[in-house]
Amino acid sequence: MVDHKHRDKFSFIDRELDRRIERQQLRQLRSMAPLNGVEVSINGRAMLNFSSNDYLGLSMHPLLQDRSIEFIHKYGSGSTASRLICGNYDFFDHVEKKLAALKQVEAALVLASGFQANISAIPALADRDSLILSDGLNHNSLIQGCRLACCKVIVYSHNDVSHLQQQLEKNADKGFSRVFIVTESVFSMDGDKADLGPLVALAEAFNAFLIVDDAHATGVFGHQGMGLTCGHNVDLVIGTFGKAGGSYGAYLACSGKIRDFLVNCCSGLIYSTALPPSVIGAIDAALELIPLMDDERAIIKKNAADLRCELHDMGWQTGQSSTQIIPLIIGKASDALAVSRWLEENGILITAIRPPAVPEGESRVRISLSALHTRSHIDRLIDVLRKWRNTK
Ligand SMILES: Cc1ncc(COP(=O)(O)O)c(C=O)c1O
Repeated sequence: MVDHKHRDKFSFIDRELDRRIERQQLRQLRSMAPLNGVEVSINGRAMLNFSSNDYLGLSMHPLLQDRSIEFIHKYGSGSTASRLICGNYDFFDHVEKKLAALKQVEAALVLASGFQANISAIPALADRDSLILSDGLNHNSLIQGCRLACCKVIVYSHNDVSHLQQQLEKNADKGFSRVFIVTESVFSMDGDKADLGPLVALAEAFNAFLIVDDAHATGVFGHQGMGLTCGHNVDLVIGTFGKAGGSYGAYLACSGKIRDFLVNCCSGLIYSTALPPSVIGAIDAALELIPLMDDERAIIKKNAADLRCELHDMGWQTGQSSTQIIPLIIGKASDALAVSRWLEENGILITAIRPPAVPEGESRVRISLSALHTRSHIDRLIDVLRKWRNTK
């Protein structure tokens, strides 16, 4: 034990940063600026961007920008308080009704971000006597939400419906107050999909509450691009507007009763300032555009399928990817960094993803496709990856 006078209160910071440097896991922020929907400038150099979640290219769409400006002029730059105090400007009701209709559910609730939604909605719903069954590859925000619920959490093998069923059976009579199944629909790091039909059936059979994070499916999959959960009996859907939505913010889609409960119990809604008018303006415009973008969705699907084939021909491992997210699973963090650096030397931005964001030994570079990527952009990527294969 070190007495308080001799304690170095910052030593843990040095230790952690040193550990990360040693393991090639140090994260650093880099400054960049968008040049257009698919290029960014880094240190004055244009880079073709395959790392963005702006799947439909809406972040640069004039309708979103104009609507943001219109909302600022009408409502000001901030919402001034949380929604339960005086920040619930009339546009929330309009956007939430539009969203609920598009998601084919009774009600929707807009929150500040997907991260905030996950870390506050899950603990609001689960009490200490609950059981949460969480997919093994769930996003960190879902993991944190489960932890904050302070109840028993069992991680089931990724996308393994029989393992989930076994856990439900094993725990059926153990006296848990509530049982939750928590999954993503499109997995953010692997680009594979959950099979929602069997999950809904299991939730119904075991009276479990099904929570699905549709963040990477919203805009890209489902009826009118409104996500893979559309038409499925999911109790609570979480989605974001920071990805295909082209701006920021998140939504919950659920029954009117669950919405009422969350308005009363979800700390992320209650204790946080309402999203600013500019952001809601962009969301409002995105909700007008997304249903009309079937052509863009078809481009993404075709480009992803073609690219996966060409990558496999070159010997790259893309795991179970079946969406616009295509990981090149490499293994060691240092090797993933080397590929990312090589791409960058050749004018292509694809960030390396290392533990703890992915399991140890599964470091990767993760390609994200946008509808704005043309065949020639993809040819450029393939060319650079082929050169890596031929020269390294
Ligand atoms: C599956 C998933 N859920 C939630 C989030 C968080 O959403 P947001 O960026 O809106 O906070 C992300 C973002 O990385 C994600 O990939």
